[in-house]
Amino acid sequence: MLKWSDDLSVGVPEIDRQHQQVARRANLLLEKLPGGSPGLVCDAFDFFETFISDHFRTEEQYMISTPAHAYRGAEAHTLAHHSFLSAYRAFRAEINKGATDELFVRQFSLWIMEWYQEHIQTHDKELGVFLKARSKKPRRK
Ligand SMILES: [Fe+2]
Repeated sequence: MLKWSDDLSVGVPEIDRQHQQVARRANLLLEKLPGGSPGLVCDAFDFFETFISDHFRTEEQYMISTPAHAYRGAEAHTLAHHSFLSAYRAFRAEINKGATDELFVRQFSLWIMEWYQEHIQTHDKELGVFLKARSKKPRRK
């Protein structure tokens, strides 16, 4: 199971709210895996992919909303979103081949749980720190 806790807060309410939803929806997906028929599991994978892609877009909008694209981590962070999606799609492709066995469920669960913690603690927090620092700066006329 994915767990959100206060120490994952990036300090941007919209992003924190979305991260809590990511955990909830990923957990719903994980619940559907054991013994699920490939068709239903693929649908659940697609549903989650649409949701998390929207979330990535929100963060990427924050990155480019800064003056002169001043957020230096933007490229690496966007790349991290892309690599999540390609690994995620590789898991989905396994289901197409009929793999929703115990090993698949365990591997996918571990992967997404680790990714969730690691991505938020590194890339997302870095973005949060940047956005908070920027919002404290006095606005120039
Ligand atoms: Fe992110």
